[in-house]
Amino acid sequence: MLCYLLPVLLAVQALAVLEVQVPDLPVVALYGMEATLNCSFSHAAPFNLSAVSVFWQLTDTKRTVHSYWGGQDQLEDQGESFANRTSLYASQLGAGNASLLLKGVRVADEGSYTCFVRVETHGSASLLLQVAAPYSKPLVTLAPDSNLRPGEEVALTCVAHGGYPEVDVLWQDGHGRNLTDNVTTSLVANEEGLFNVRSVLTVALEPNSTYSCRLANPLLGEEGHASVTITGQNMVFPPVALWVTVGLAVCLLGLLIALAAVCHRKIKESCEEARAAKELEEAKELEEESKTGVGR
Ligand SMILES: *[C@@H]1O[C@H](CO)[C@@H](O)[C@H](O)[C@H]1NC(C)=O
Ligand SMILES: *[C@@H]1O[C@H](CO)[C@@H](O)[C@H](O)[C@H]1NC(C)=O
Ligand SMILES: *[C@@H]1O[C@H](CO)[C@@H](O)[C@H](O)[C@H]1NC(C)=O
Ligand SMILES: *[C@@H]1O[C@H](CO)[C@@H](O)[C@H](O)[C@H]1NC(C)=O
Ligand SMILES: *[C@@H]1O[C@H](CO)[C@@H](O)[C@H](O)[C@H]1NC(C)=O
Ligand SMILES: *[C@@H]1O[C@H](CO)[C@@H](O)[C@H](O)[C@H]1NC(C)=O
Ligand SMILES: *[C@@H]1O[C@H](CO)[C@@H](O)[C@H](O)[C@H]1NC(C)=O
Repeated sequence: MLCYLLPVLLAVQALAVLEVQVPDLPVVALYGMEATLNCSFSHAAPFNLSAVSVFWQLTDTKRTVHSYWGGQDQLEDQGESFANRTSLYASQLGAGNASLLLKGVRVADEGSYTCFVRVETHGSASLLLQVAAPYSKPLVTLAPDSNLRPGEEVALTCVAHGGYPEVDVLWQDGHGRNLTDNVTTSLVANEEGLFNVRSVLTVALEPNSTYSCRLANPLLGEEGHASVTITGQNMVFPPVALWVTVGLAVCLLGLLIALAAVCHRKIKESCEEARAAKELEEAKELEEESKTGVGR
């Protein structure tokens, strides 16, 4: 008996309920912007606005977001965090549009909202609000005191801030290959609930390598990316030691050249002296010979 009656009972109840429609998919609102939470109801007969009641509330806590009845907004019991941020489209209410305009969207606004409407009969429906904030352009840096010697391990850090929700950080090498090992990513929320992300990749350096950091926001998709390229040029011996070595080598070479020049002159001088002495002797001998010759 009940089995036959139940569908009839349900059908009767359905007739008594006002049909209220909200989006099935979550509504994505941009942080700091305004969002319209759509809610529409269909009422066959024309109605007097003063006979319409609209209640928007948080589904979980039943906290009042916005109320309207008796032909005007009723905000005495409105939740404090929504003060001065909500309104209905009054001129659209007569056409069955009970949508809520929410201004200055905050991270804390995220959640489920119920739209409750009464015109003779009543009905309600709930929708999900999701908040999204784009991250700043990421910045990739190399630890400043790192030794850029091939094979050495270095830490590359990628930072971005002020985004929501939690971002996925993907590191790739120059060939677009995913680097998932030796990556540490941490997120910290600021007082507005927005995240700052910091991801550290530790790699063994190879010459001519590029590392890029890509951010993917689950709600906004691919956001920014940044990369760092380590060319062969950065990768030198420890620079101070190199310049000291080059300097010393130049000094030594100069010294050797100077020494060689001095030696060369000395040798030449002594040779000339010897030759001069010899010539003098020969001249003397010649003179003596001529003297003897004359004496003879
Ligand atoms: C709200 O409803 C209007 C009209 O049906 C539609 O154009 C708009 O895309 C809806 N907005 C959202 C956020 O669902
Ligand atoms: C309700 O009216 C507002 C303002 O005209 C509009 O933006 C919104 O899309 C309307 N919503 C629906 C469900 O028609
Ligand atoms: C709407 O209701 C109010 C109060 O009940 C009444 O004064 C007004 O004349 C009505 N307006 C219409 C168009 O029926
Ligand atoms: C809302 O606006 C009124 C009047 O402009 C102001 O006095 C009040 O402080 C505001 N409340 C909040 C929470 O901003
Ligand atoms: C890299 O990772 C991303 C995200 O996890 C994925 O979509 C992509 O297919 C991966 N690419 C390769 C080459 O594995
Ligand atoms: C990760 O680090 C370990 C230890 O430092 C190293 O042996 C390994 O090769 C690294 N993995 C990658 C993919 O670089
Ligand atoms: C590094 O890259 C430059 C330019 O892309 C190329 O000319 C050079 O041969 C590369 N060196 C090595 C060691 O791969």
